[in-house]
Amino acid sequence: MDRPFGLLAELTYRCPLACAYCSNPLELAAYDDELGTAEWQRVFTEAAAMGVLQCHLSGGEPLLRRDLVELVRTAADLGMYTNLVTSAIGLSRGRAEELKEAGLDHVQVSVQADEPATSDRIAGIPSFERKLRAAAVVKELGWPLTVNVVVHRQNIDRLAEIIALVEELDADRVELANTQYYGWAWRNRAALLPSRAQLAAAEDVVRAARERLAGRMEVLHVLADYYSAYPKPCMGGWAARQLTVAPNGDALPCPAAQTLPLPRASVREESLQRIWDDAPVFTAFRGTGWMSDPCRTCDRREIDFGGCRCQAFQLTGDAARTDPVCHLSPDHALVADAVEAANAGGRRHEEVLVPRPHRA
Ligand code: SF4
Ligand code: FES
Repeated sequence: MDRPFGLLAELTYRCPLACAYCSNPLELAAYDDELGTAEWQRVFTEAAAMGVLQCHLSGGEPLLRRDLVELVRTAADLGMYTNLVTSAIGLSRGRAEELKEAGLDHVQVSVQADEPATSDRIAGIPSFERKLRAAAVVKELGWPLTVNVVVHRQNIDRLAEIIALVEELDADRVELANTQYYGWAWRNRAALLPSRAQLAAAEDVVRAARERLAGRMEVLHVLADYYSAYPKPCMGGWAARQLTVAPNGDALPCPAAQTLPLPRASVREESLQRIWDDAPVFTAFRGTGWMSDPCRTCDRREIDFGGCRCQAFQLTGDAARTDPVCHLSPDHALVADAVEAANAGGRRHEEVLVPRPHRA
């Protein structure tokens, strides 16, 4: 069995923003009983002992945790590379200096668009200017800065301008990630899935930016899997390299796995090592033994691992089926029909369902 490489610590699902593509669970009240400081510190200690090298502190908005500096210090002292995944709302200069002193290695800031009106509409609250100020603080304090942009039907036509903004922020890396359809993004799929023409234009923009920015800024483009012939190798394989701990202590092989009908495993009840080794939620789809046709006999089964289990469940109601994104899947029409609808017009932004900000 592989050892986990990365831990996604979802410290809280509370968040000041309310993005229409949020992939967090829809029923957030179930996660209000958050792990305390000592519990997270134990999780980090166990993760480091298992060989985890990267600790991603995420949410929701991790800056809403009052003990964030303490948690960063623990993870850094354990020798893990620490990455703060944030909207940047709440990243004052004072807080940033404390995090720096505690040993935080890297900051990833989300940006929704290149100008305030669209950005604030997508984020659900006025936040654009605060994000830019916080990104500047990240650079001033000498951190490597990654800007993450979730790309969708409502902002994809502005990709050139978004990249120009990221360049102005002097980011070291930009992740242009087409929306993954979980949580609210799933509910809003018709308003978020771009058309084929939009995607083709975006690919030209990204290609030109890569050439222009070579050696200065890394441009990562996560393609829209609905338009791919083959699915993404989600998480590098189920329970192979990554693990997630949700705010309430549920341990999961990926952030969306709480939707699957598998028994829960909690770090409040068992050690992380034991969960990784034996919990059904981790063992259910590990390796290739669980596969049925067409994946079972397919040459690509060790390349894409049959795609995404959560997407298979979301679309077919059976997490053990081939990801319907795959053109070989007997359920591929479920994806093809959504693509066809997107190319016939999709849904307008006025019709987007917006989650309420979760501030419990
Ligand atoms: Fe991947 Fe399964 Fe499709 Fe083969 S049939 S390409 S293993 S999803
Ligand atoms: Fe859960 Fe892909 S998001 S396996």
